[in-house]
Amino acid sequence: MSVNTNKPTTSFGVTIAGIGAYAPETIISNDDLTQLVDTSDEWIASRTGIRQRHVVTGNQSIVDLAENAIQDALASAGMDGEEVDLIIAATSTPDTIYPATACQLQHRIGASRAVGFDIAMACSGFVYGIITASQFLRAGTYKTAIVVASDIHSRYTDWSDRNTCVLFGDGAGAIILKADPETDDILACELGVDGSKGAELTLHTSAQNCPLVKPREPGNNYVYMNGREMFKFAVNTVPMTIRSIVDKAGMTLDDLDHVVLHQANIRILQAMNEKMGIPEEKLIVNLQKYGNTSAASVPLALNEAVLDGRVKQGDVLAMCGFGAGAAWGTTVLRWSCVDQRLGKHQETSDTQEIQLV
Ligand code: UT7
Repeated sequence: MSVNTNKPTTSFGVTIAGIGAYAPETIISNDDLTQLVDTSDEWIASRTGIRQRHVVTGNQSIVDLAENAIQDALASAGMDGEEVDLIIAATSTPDTIYPATACQLQHRIGASRAVGFDIAMACSGFVYGIITASQFLRAGTYKTAIVVASDIHSRYTDWSDRNTCVLFGDGAGAIILKADPETDDILACELGVDGSKGAELTLHTSAQNCPLVKPREPGNNYVYMNGREMFKFAVNTVPMTIRSIVDKAGMTLDDLDHVVLHQANIRILQAMNEKMGIPEEKLIVNLQKYGNTSAASVPLALNEAVLDGRVKQGDVLAMCGFGAGAAWGTTVLRWSCVDQRLGKHQETSDTQEIQLV
């Protein structure tokens, strides 16, 4: 069902009502990967910072992961699905090309009034989703939006390619945003694309032509990455865009309490921090536990920092997703969420390592 697409008469600010995340239970350690490729815990940890990654098993789906992250975000906001009127799902690894992931989630979470659509912007998708949702909320078109990022790269990884299989993990994260007539906590935003770098990080579909015509060139549907080129892109682009939005927000880098970057590689994060002169303790890092979870990495890291008390109400954060496209999405926001889970999460937040089959 659709809601309120009438011409808006007023403009609003955007506040943050909740955050949540979910990672599948099964963990693959660096040592486990030595059974598949010629690698070592020492190489992976020293070149990337990654120690383990969570992966789906059996029929676990993008929608399952996203639904769990949304339920966590709804608990954080103290809301139920009925109140949501816009769902934006950021995923580049959907279960189905159609129906859109957002449509399936609308049904799963009982958001019967909500409309929804997907964004396929790889590792930048979560921040693209926040900025897109904000436009609808500011215009007064919708009042409550969920942006959920969910990616399962373990199904698109060539597990015999050591250049890529050590990097990725599966996960999901969600944020709930509300239109507010008085307050605006999204202080600045920036989106960027450099399509000339598209070939450096790709994931092709394997669909075939009609058998009556010339067949498509055979290919594969695994992740390909030119790691060195993406590394250079990241360390050049991210400091530039963070400086630019901090400036747009009328602030300086010193005004940032935290920086949450796409969790691609600890060396990228450190190089960027050195370039910007931001103290290391302001950098939120959890890639050692999850690897690169694509669109989900920013909310997975942010959610953890909210739950353990590092990110507090009133803190100012810079967030940046970057990757395939090449693309980036950056925002500065004030953390206004009054999290209803705090104090309750201790018993449930630890993920148990389970035995691999
Ligand atoms: O999410 C989107 C954004 N992602 C990124 O921006 C990722 C950017 N890139 C990177 O994080 C890094 O480039 C990688 C982690 C992918 C690679 O690290 P690197 O330091 O750039 O390594 P390299 O590709 O230059 O490879 C160095 C050596 C090579 O051997 P030779 O040619 O020097 O003999 C590789 O074959 O390391 C070898 N190597 C490995 N050795 C053990 C590559 N992967 C592995 C491995 N284990 N898993």
